[in-house]
Amino acid sequence: MLELENEIFLEMVHNIQETYGYVPEREINQLAEKFDQPRAKIYGAIKFYSMFYTEPTGKYVIRICDSLSCHLNDSHDLLLAVENFLGLKNGETSPDQLFTLEVVECLGHCGEGPVMMVNDKMYTELSKGRALEILKECQ
Ligand code: FES
Repeated sequence: MLELENEIFLEMVHNIQETYGYVPEREINQLAEKFDQPRAKIYGAIKFYSMFYTEPTGKYVIRICDSLSCHLNDSHDLLLAVENFLGLKNGETSPDQLFTLEVVECLGHCGEGPVMMVNDKMYTELSKGRALEILKECQ
């Protein structure tokens, strides 16, 4: 049943995340009831998509691509600089809920690496200095 209504399910999850910034447990329970599915199946379906969160994230979600093309353009150095600046590792959120840091797969700008996304905004051909400037502007 969940597979048949996948589009509806995804739209609902998207709307929940738009409202709360993540998908709270009570909403997972309601989805399980609505789709007549075990809670674990709903949870698994949500976790399958990297753009959905089941825990609160920071106000700014920082995504740094470390796939091959970006890696060859020193994305790892960029990542280290950002980790040091934020005091965060991959998957962590700052205690003040301002930043979440994620290392991600290709963001579709392979010829313009290294790349970083801040929420929905893409930054390409980044130097470490420019990346830190962008993060300082978020504070
Ligand atoms: S490899 Fe980084 S955007 Fe594609």
